[in-house]
Amino acid sequence: MSTSSDTVVYDPYAYEIHEDPYPTYERLREEAPIYHNEELGFWALSRHADVIEGFRDFERLSNSHGVSLDPSASGPHAHKTMSFLGMDPPMHGRMRGLVSKGFTPRRVAEQEPRIRQIARSYIEQMRESPDDLDFISDFAGRLPMDVISELMGVPVEDREELRRLSDLLVHREEGIRDVPPEGAAAAMELVVYYSDMLAQRRERPTDDLTSALLDVVDADGDRLTDDEIIGFLFLMVVAGNETTTKLLANAWYWGWRNPDQRAKPLADPSRIPMWIEETLRYDTSSQMLGRITLVDVECYDRVIPAGDRVLLLAGSANRDPRVFSNPDVYDLDRPEPLPQLASFGFGRHFCLGASLARLEARVALEELVAAFGDYDVDPAGMTRVHSVNVRGFATLPTTVVPRARTSPTSTTSPTSTTSPGGAR
Ligand code: HEM
Repeated sequence: MSTSSDTVVYDPYAYEIHEDPYPTYERLREEAPIYHNEELGFWALSRHADVIEGFRDFERLSNSHGVSLDPSASGPHAHKTMSFLGMDPPMHGRMRGLVSKGFTPRRVAEQEPRIRQIARSYIEQMRESPDDLDFISDFAGRLPMDVISELMGVPVEDREELRRLSDLLVHREEGIRDVPPEGAAAAMELVVYYSDMLAQRRERPTDDLTSALLDVVDADGDRLTDDEIIGFLFLMVVAGNETTTKLLANAWYWGWRNPDQRAKPLADPSRIPMWIEETLRYDTSSQMLGRITLVDVECYDRVIPAGDRVLLLAGSANRDPRVFSNPDVYDLDRPEPLPQLASFGFGRHFCLGASLARLEARVALEELVAAFGDYDVDPAGMTRVHSVNVRGFATLPTTVVPRARTSPTSTTSPTSTTSPGGAR
């Protein structure tokens, strides 16, 4: 087996990769399982076993320079905008421990009625123009921002602007291989916004997570600094918002592309969790995560020198035929449980919001399926987000077929246990 990277080229900034990275991933897995791109200065691991091991191996593969390939977002300052995602132990454990109280299974489950209410309010608006909708701006782009905003205490009137700023953070024009000036300006605006929000909460605490973080005291009696809290709020808006929007729209899109699969959850909402899992596997929103080698790392027949950037290609790992049978088929009838997905990472940095993301997606799809008997997508109007690591749609024109309303509780999901019933 050759491990040369000469014949296959992988450029995560290329628009053609954003359109469809999977044929390139297949070639990487087979021809260059440790791939080196000298021009862009990174190595890439693409096989499932190597990606999972890469996530686990925090002693040699460090998060201390962040997880991005963008030169200006990469470096020892990364934690300023990525919080503990850009830290190694022991700092990582301290920060994660302090904020994880907001993400206990109980805290997450408590969000369900409110998430359902928000989803219903957007669906109610969608019913008014079923033939002229954009799945992103009318639904998927709004719900996750609302959920994060409620958690953090961002007022309703500011959410649209925050979403615009977070979109600017991840968007890349063709040919641009770093954070563009618009992205840097958006980051500055977010810092100013969050600083003001912190000052207000300090004066008048509320019951949101931001106020709770101001109160947190660790085992040594230390409090989080303002910079630490701002870094965390930043992480939330990108990690919790962009990725979940993309998950929802990817599920909608792949369901549309595979009518036989879509028919399953439309007929039986108990199949919705598998719709979510298969979307996370087949086309995950977080395609790759970066690391820095702390020592020389031997891999296949090559040595990655200490200090080099390594990309863990989660999107490729999820399509590895060594682990998933018929990986390029979107199939809601895969035997459960699925093998370990790379979609939320693995080990110490495993996504803190994974259960919240799954809950949001389940509630959203339950409510959509309860309200609409079927849907269509207009591929001509679809546009992709052009980002180096987030994969999904910027626009997804859709039409829906509303189900007849029978009773106020008819949109209550059969799989829901804590639904507020007819709370519309
Ligand atoms: C479909 C939705 C989501 C996907 C695909 C996703 C993916 C990921 C991945 C792959 C990581 C690991 C990064 C690494 O190892 O370098 C991660 C970390 C993280 N995610 Fe998510 N995420 C999602 C939703 C969320 C949500 C809803 C939240 C919060 C509300 C969230 C908060 C975080 C945080 C705080 C981390 C950092 C964990 C750490 O460094 O210890 N994510 N996410």
